[in-house]
Amino acid sequence: MGDMDPVKLMKQEVGRAAAAQVKSGSIVGLGTGSTTAFAIQFIGERLAAGELTDVVGIPTSFQASVLAKKHGIPLTTLDEAPRIDIAIDGADEVDPQQNLIKGGGAAHTREKVVDGLAERFVVVVDSSKLVDKLGSTFALPVEVLPMAVAPVTRALTALGGTPELRMGVNKDGPVITDQGNMVLDVKFTGIDNPAELEKTVNNIPGVLENGLFVGLADEVLIGEVIDGKASVRTM
Ligand code: A5P
Repeated sequence: MGDMDPVKLMKQEVGRAAAAQVKSGSIVGLGTGSTTAFAIQFIGERLAAGELTDVVGIPTSFQASVLAKKHGIPLTTLDEAPRIDIAIDGADEVDPQQNLIKGGGAAHTREKVVDGLAERFVVVVDSSKLVDKLGSTFALPVEVLPMAVAPVTRALTALGGTPELRMGVNKDGPVITDQGNMVLDVKFTGIDNPAELEKTVNNIPGVLENGLFVGLADEVLIGEVIDGKASVRTM
């Protein structure tokens, strides 16, 4: 375990636990983010060791596709794949009903397509992501067509949110998603009805998708570090 930062250690162990659920012959949805990155690495290692065979991935982002190639996981697309057996993906917040906020990496639109199609959707998080109520710590990411940013900002404000255009890091100007759109991060003081807000926000013209994932998760794996020892539990 060495001197590894505890959060990184939790992410690594939960990624390993999710990768262990993948069976030979599976089509696997590959999520986005720093936790899923470990799952992708461990799936690759299991393939290289011959422990797994005949696995193909469906990436949810450029990041997932780059990592899958690096770790030797063959990729396919939704045009070719008849089904998705399991999807593994991270989250920014998880509530006690296993509803999620996602999109911290601006990948939630493709993630919802892939995770939503999967026979089993396994969420991988460290314990810092657990909240009593969604929206209490994290702003809701909303992907928006660039020409509609101003009216969508007004509509989200009218819903009681405080939207902010996500700006790039090490790049001047706004974040541009894998689809060429922009992201508004909308601060709410807690979301009382995630199912209703998910639909209401998606109904604003110009919105592609928001980061509320309601009723999609089949299992949430939580990485914890207790007394310097990493462990994984199921929610
Ligand atoms: C990507 O857009 C997100 O939905 C990620 O899945 C989420 O932000 C979790 O990322 P980390 O595992 O890096 O915290």
